[in-house]
Amino acid sequence: MTVPEVCSMKEKGEKIVCLTAYDYCLARILDESGIDILLVGDSLGSVVQGHDSTLPVTVDDVIYHTKAVVRGRRRALVVSDMPFMTFQLGVDEAKRNAGRLVQEGGAESVKLEGGVTQAATIEGLVKMGVPVMGHVGLTPQSVHQFGGYRIQGRGEADARAILDDAMAVEQAGAFAVVLEGMPVQLAREITQRVSIPTIGIGAGMHCDGQILVVHDMLGLFDDFTPKFVKRYANLKETIGGAVRSYMEEVRTEAFPAEEHTFH
Ligand code: KIV
Repeated sequence: MTVPEVCSMKEKGEKIVCLTAYDYCLARILDESGIDILLVGDSLGSVVQGHDSTLPVTVDDVIYHTKAVVRGRRRALVVSDMPFMTFQLGVDEAKRNAGRLVQEGGAESVKLEGGVTQAATIEGLVKMGVPVMGHVGLTPQSVHQFGGYRIQGRGEADARAILDDAMAVEQAGAFAVVLEGMPVQLAREITQRVSIPTIGIGAGMHCDGQILVVHDMLGLFDDFTPKFVKRYANLKETIGGAVRSYMEEVRTEAFPAEEHTFH
């Protein structure tokens, strides 16, 4: 998948299917299943590192995980997240960090949170040749400003501000925009008003594509399950069952058996 191919999917009315990925093994499974976009999200702060927010994640963390994902990927477009403090300090700092994600990590594009306030940064990165995915609505790096992970855009003024953010992201040259945590009607209006693909998470069915955190949809992470997550598997239970079988067999000397033994 390339950036122009992703954009042409909106024109053709084809849904864009995205998941997060953080390591080689899972990236390979998702890629072989036909996922269009793999996002090395700063959600790795929660589901890989065990933090209670994305704020501690560094650009080195994302580079490390991007390298692993790129090795497991054949077809999908790889998008790497720009963590907190890697783009807010100015366009030059953002260029340096986006450049590292592409040059060292192997990402083909980057994602950053913010709309109107980040338009100049998005424009700078695009001019430098780095495709940018925007991210508006419930932007987790602003959790303290929101006072928690709350749905955004419920009032008329807030909804207008998010629409302005999405349009600013488009005008700045982003190739797509994530719409997170907002009413379905607002996400539908944005999707109709912008020409770039919208990728929804907690934003209803009308977006041009959808994304979920892979640990959430596979049932690996259950510290907190937002209403918008659908569990397609319960891997926590499956893995627990496998580990209990292994323990039982080691303790009863059923494993290793003859076929696992060298002579
Ligand atoms: O970090 C992340 O995984 C994200 C997606 C949930 C959009 O930003």
